[in-house]
Amino acid sequence: MGITLRPATIEDAEMILSWRNDEVARANSFSGDVITYEAHMEWFRKKLADENCYLYIMTDDDECVGQARIDVVNDIGEISYMTAPGKRGKGYGRKIISLCEDVPNGGVMAFMGLVQKENEASRKCFLQNGYAEFNGGDIYCYIKTLNK
Ligand SMILES: CC(C)(COP(=O)(O)OP(=O)(O)OC[C@H]1O[C@@H](n2cnc3c(N)ncnc32)[C@H](O)[C@@H]1OP(=O)(O)O)[C@@H](O)C(=O)NCCC(=O)NCCS
Repeated sequence: MGITLRPATIEDAEMILSWRNDEVARANSFSGDVITYEAHMEWFRKKLADENCYLYIMTDDDECVGQARIDVVNDIGEISYMTAPGKRGKGYGRKIISLCEDVPNGGVMAFMGLVQKENEASRKCFLQNGYAEFNGGDIYCYIKTLNK
């Protein structure tokens, strides 16, 4: 089967919550708080219903290894992503960004990512995918025009 990207469904909600509440993901997120089940479910349902939001799960031989979200604002897709806590450092982070670039996402022509400066793994994922890096004080901003 190999690696594939599929749309996320409500059935993925709890798995994504457990990944998001993992210590490393919290340290690298912009809020850092533990998210409650109720708050997550409300947020996740809204995102699934949002026509400007695309949620994906990456699988490797049917095992869920990563998730990504593209929020389209002003024709730019802001990408947020993470890999499963037990699956980091295996190239999946780099891969999920590139797979997201290959699907339409409403026809967006550019991707953008915001990364905390100490998040070296995410920085490398964007750089290795050919993103331009902009220094934004506490964060780096990554931008890439998509070839579509
Ligand atoms: C950021 C994240 C998605 C990276 O995913 P990953 O699957 O570990 O990344 P990859 O395996 O594709 O590694 C990409 C590069 O980062 C390096 N890397 C991985 N973990 C690292 C770490 N903790 N510190 C420094 N470099 C790291 C890898 O070695 C690789 O570089 P190389 O090709 O030069 O060896 C993952 O760590 C994660 O989910 N973190 C928590 C959530 C998060 O930070 N999301 C991104 C928000 S912007």
